[in-house]
Parts: sequence; structure tokens; C-alpha cells
Amino acid sequence: MADPVVASHLSLVLKAPPTISSPSQFLLQQHSKPMASSLNSAASLRLFVSSSSSSSSAAARLSLRSTSLSFSSSLKSLAFSPLSRHKRGSAVSVSSTGGFSSVASPKCAASDPDQLKSAREDIKELLKSKFCHPILVRLGWHDAGTYNKNIEEWPRRGGANGSLRFEVELKHAANAGLVNALNLIQHIKDKYSGVTYADLFQLASATAIEEAGGPKIPMKYGRVDVSGPNECPEEGRLPAAGPPSPADHLREVFYRMGLNDKEIVALSGAHTLGRSRPDRSGWGKPETKYTKDGPGAPGGQSWTVQWLKFDNSYFKDIKAKRDEDLLVLPTDAVLFEDPSFKVYAEKYAEDQETFFKDYAEAHAKLSNLGAKFNPPEVGL
Ligand code: HEM
Repeated sequence: MADPVVASHLSLVLKAPPTISSPSQFLLQQHSKPMASSLNSAASLRLFVSSSSSSSSAAARLSLRSTSLSFSSSLKSLAFSPLSRHKRGSAVSVSSTGGFSSVASPKCAASDPDQLKSAREDIKELLKSKFCHPILVRLGWHDAGTYNKNIEEWPRRGGANGSLRFEVELKHAANAGLVNALNLIQHIKDKYSGVTYADLFQLASATAIEEAGGPKIPMKYGRVDVSGPNECPEEGRLPAAGPPSPADHLREVFYRMGLNDKEIVALSGAHTLGRSRPDRSGWGKPETKYTKDGPGAPGGQSWTVQWLKFDNSYFKDIKAKRDEDLLVLPTDAVLFEDPSFKVYAEKYAEDQETFFKDYAEAHAKLSNLGAKFNPPEVGL
């Protein structure tokens, strides 16, 4: 019999395939490549595979049967981890401090400033060796982007509160693949017990933008963590890439976060980094001439040619739509179609300095959404 926790994972994965809104997406998905080729999956396996050889039978069985390669890979990582070996029979968990867990964590105080600075140096080292800038940006965004400004109560309002570390939220369809980001930074969390997950996610994201050549983000720290999976937001608060009416959808989702048209366009510019993988989100080609050789593990489809460099090429490329190896999601294309979005998109395509300024402000605002700061708020 499969472990009930793992089995419930599987049934959810099977029930929640990625949204495919066009026949071409369907075809792309048919040709998708196994997750094992991805940078982050490979990294997570490197991190954990040596620690156990005995506790993997349930996960191995499930990974063979699961249709969601990203999650079966995640399950492998979890099952091979040292802590899961010692905690078999309890909830799936790789961290004594509460990460990836179905159970409550006792630590929820805000972060220690000196430890934040050291953690930032460790993140820089990680970025140099793993080229994981994009997925760390996405991690910060998906923790913060659940915020609902119409709910006052913390943490029910969602936002940057570290809730994405819990498996109940990680298995939301929009978060496919993000367990790999957690695997990458968990050792940093373990090293700095005085840094909350909520701060670490935002620190990792801002550091990744800066290290990729982007603007300095005016960040502050001191976010308090939620303490249990019961405090995670419900599924469905993050945007879809192929909704029937992309402009209306983007406004509905981002206005709920308290963000405006300028901020929607500026933040979309984060897609200058990274790739989409059909085996995670259902979007993008399995590989292109820009991704087939990495850096890091090959594969996926990027929005830009130099997808580890933060600049304004996203706006130039989605406007031109000239290269079929570069991705343009429906929610990207609409930035040059909707009259209000278009004003900003045109500006950013022309003027990188303005893009950097607006991006830095919007990113900082995003990183604070819904967060509860336990004073003092720390700038780094
Ligand atoms: C506007 C609505 C948005 C939609 C519909 C959207 C959708 C997506 C999708 C489908 C992917 C591919 C995921 C995968 O297959 O692994 C992706 C990747 C990414 N997204 Fe977005 N996104 C949006 C906004 C944002 C924002 C606001 C940010 C950051 C501020 C962001 C940052 C990223 C990054 C960096 C990646 C690349 C991840 C990687 O390479 O692993 N996105 N997004």
C-alpha cells in the first residue's frame, strides 16, 4: 500500500493536469521531455540522492505511474531526503524547521539582520553554481502573489508569508516545479534558523534579479512565517497563462493584489528570465536552440535569447514575435494589445532605464504584499 500522504499527492496530481487552451499547446505537451532533464530537478536529485537508498519504494512506484513528471520528481526528492528517511510513517517532510511539510512549524518569528546578510551571500554562491535565478524569482512571486487586499486578517489574506513551503500549496497546479526551488534553498534555511521562509523567498528572488544584471530592489525584511498548512491560501489565486480574456483576467488577479496596470506590465518583464516547460505548466516547447545546451540542464522555451540576463529584451521580443523559438504567452501578447498596457509595454521596449526603475518599485511592492512585519523592518 502506498503511504496515504503520498497517495493523496498522486490523486491530486492526476486530477489537476496543466491548463491547455489551444491545440498547439496540446501538441507541444505530447512532445514534452522527461523532467529528469531539467536543471532544477537534476539539482534536487544531486542534493538528496546520496542520503538514502532504502526509503524510496513508494515514491519510485508512484513516479513510474504518475502523469505529472514534475511532481513525481518532487516526490523522489522528498523520499530520498535524510529527514524523510528518519521520519517515515509521519508526514512527508524534509526539514526540521517546517519546510515541505504537512505539519505545523514552531518557528514563525521575523528574521535576524546579520543572518539575512550571510544568507544573501550564500544565495549568490548558489546562483553562480546552479544558474537558478529564474526559478527563485518565480518562488518569491508565487508566495507573494496569493495576496487578497479585500481580506484584512493575516494570514488569511495570503501574500509573502512563507506558506508556499507547505506541500498543500506546493501541489497547486500553478506551482508545478517550484518544489525544486525549495530543494535548492533548503540548505540555506537550515543554516540560518534566524531567517524566516517568508524573508528567504523574497531575499532569494530580489538577489536573483540583481545578480542577473537587473536593478537594485528597495527591499525590507522582517516578514513573519505562517506556522501551519492550515494557513495556506486556497488554490486559484495566481494568474493563468491562457484565459479566455487575458487583459480582464490579469486585471482581476492583479487588482485583487492591489497592483495597477503599470505594475502588471513592469512585473511581467520578469519573464526576461527563465523558461517555460511543457511538463510543468503545459506551456512552451520541450527545447529550443536557445535552451538545448543549458546553461544548467537543457530544455524548455524562453521568452528571450539570453534568458539569464535581466534587461528589457522581453518587451522587444514579445512585440516583434519574430522568432518561433521564443515564447509569447497569451498574457504576454496582450501587453501590446490592450490600450492601457500598451503604453507601458512600448515605453519599456524603448527605454530600459524606465523599465528598471518601474520594475524595482513594483517588485518591492509585490514582495511586501500581505506580509506581517515584526519590527524592526530591516533594509539590506
Ligand atoms: C502576468 C501573469 C503571469 C503569468 C500568466 C505567468 C505564467 C508563467 C508560466 C506559465 C511560466 C512557466 C512555468 C514553467 O513551466 O516552469 C512562468 C515562468 C516564470 N515566471 Fe511567470 N507568469 C506571470 C507573471 C509573472 C510575474 C509577475 C513574475 C515575477 C515578478 C514572473 C516570473 C516568472 C519567471 C522568472 C519564470 C521562469 C521560471 C523558470 O525558468 O523556472 N511571472 N510564468
